[in-house]
Amino acid sequence: MVYKYSISILGTGYIGLCSGICFASKKIRIIASTHNKEKAQMINDGQPPFYEKGLQEMMNELNKINPELFKCLINPVQAVLETDISMITQGTPMRKDSSIDLSYIERTAKEIGEALKKSDKYHLVVVRSTVVPGTTRNLVGKIITEVSGKEPGKDFGLCMQPEFLKEGDSIEDTLRPDRIVIGAIDERSGAMLQEFYEYFYGDHLQNCPVLRMNLESAELVKYGNNCLLSTKISYANEFANFAELVPNVDIAQVMKGVGLDYRLNSRFLNAGVGFGGSCFHKDVNAIKAWSKSKGYTSRLLEAVLGINDDQAIHIVDMAEQLAGKLAGKKVALLGLAFKPGTDDMREAASIRVVNELRKRGITDIIGYDPKANKTAEMEMGDKIKYAKSIEEALKDSECAILITEWNEFKKLTPDDFKKHMKTPNLVDGRRLYDYDTFNKALPFRAIGRINLE
Ligand code: UGA
Repeated sequence: MVYKYSISILGTGYIGLCSGICFASKKIRIIASTHNKEKAQMINDGQPPFYEKGLQEMMNELNKINPELFKCLINPVQAVLETDISMITQGTPMRKDSSIDLSYIERTAKEIGEALKKSDKYHLVVVRSTVVPGTTRNLVGKIITEVSGKEPGKDFGLCMQPEFLKEGDSIEDTLRPDRIVIGAIDERSGAMLQEFYEYFYGDHLQNCPVLRMNLESAELVKYGNNCLLSTKISYANEFANFAELVPNVDIAQVMKGVGLDYRLNSRFLNAGVGFGGSCFHKDVNAIKAWSKSKGYTSRLLEAVLGINDDQAIHIVDMAEQLAGKLAGKKVALLGLAFKPGTDDMREAASIRVVNELRKRGITDIIGYDPKANKTAEMEMGDKIKYAKSIEEALKDSECAILITEWNEFKKLTPDDFKKHMKTPNLVDGRRLYDYDTFNKALPFRAIGRINLE
């Protein structure tokens, strides 16, 4: 069968696999590639290598309708040669010195170069990974040119299209984005990518602006986005700390009042135990380190990270103010994943809370997460115990700290805590529970509110 578009996706993490499957669902032929043999096998067997809402169902559907539309190789050169457009969706992790690790991007650029050396067709290369400004042109473009002997703009096109999907909503965000940002080395590259999205999205593009700009601006848009979202969270956390200085002030009401300003909006103003995940820390650190290497020191981003780290210390302070010194007592952590709906533990607030508890000599810690117990154990080992149920976590404990706002925890009533705990001290790190109800019923503390009797 002949398809209008054949696309290679180089990297099979959240961005690569989710967008690839979404493209394939609209009859675009996708050849993904990973160096991980087992991962490729799983994907070809119709199994996602990580949990993401809706992904398994889409893969099942695709296998039923037309399995030819999506396959995964362990040969990136072959994947590029069989397609017209290649998307680089490799990870860009954080190095020990907090700067960006571009080694996977570098390797992929070499592989694309090797493929293009063997081909006479015009090929469009699109960087979808989050990369610091200058990477697409000066690293990816340069390596492809050196390895292939081909000329950018003439023999191959180059775009940078940042990705804005959130874990847990990857499919929905891919199918219904709020904008598409296309940075391009020249008009031809940008037009080719825009045409592809016009084909893929059809009518949806009527409500979704497509912004065209140069490569470096597009690279910086992504950092602008993640840094502003992290800043909003740290701002809300700072105000939560202000709110705790004034009895009976409630941060949730304050942020609602602020967020209704049409120039702002109330999303990402939820105060809590701090942000986690594979993106915010990594990206805020990467752009901070990048700007420093260019002679500019960011004071804003330093504060955003500092406030976030301090929330973990603050919540342990709250727990000890409520329950007294916790050393020698059993502490239960409700939720370990960096947010609900995922088993991802990367940079999760629970890790910082556990480190702080242990620093204070508290070793009897038990955690329960509906999805992340296994990944948490991989991350934290025997620093804590892992409970199979809420009841097991709460049993005999003297303080519970709510860290991830799973629905399963929302259902708990003050009686549930009273029934299972030795002393029912509860700290709400996500403002999940109705303050007045819980405050009346239990020894209770919550981020961003203090009541005087
Ligand atoms: C984030 C961005 O939201 C995406 O747009 C971006 O594409 C992605 O990073 C990325 O760069 O790949 P993600 O890390 O999946 O997505 O998760 P978010 O939903 O943004 O949550 C991040 C953290 O912020 C979580 O720990 C969450 O609990 C915390 N958060 C979020 C708050 O503490 N308060 C809020 O009001 C919102």
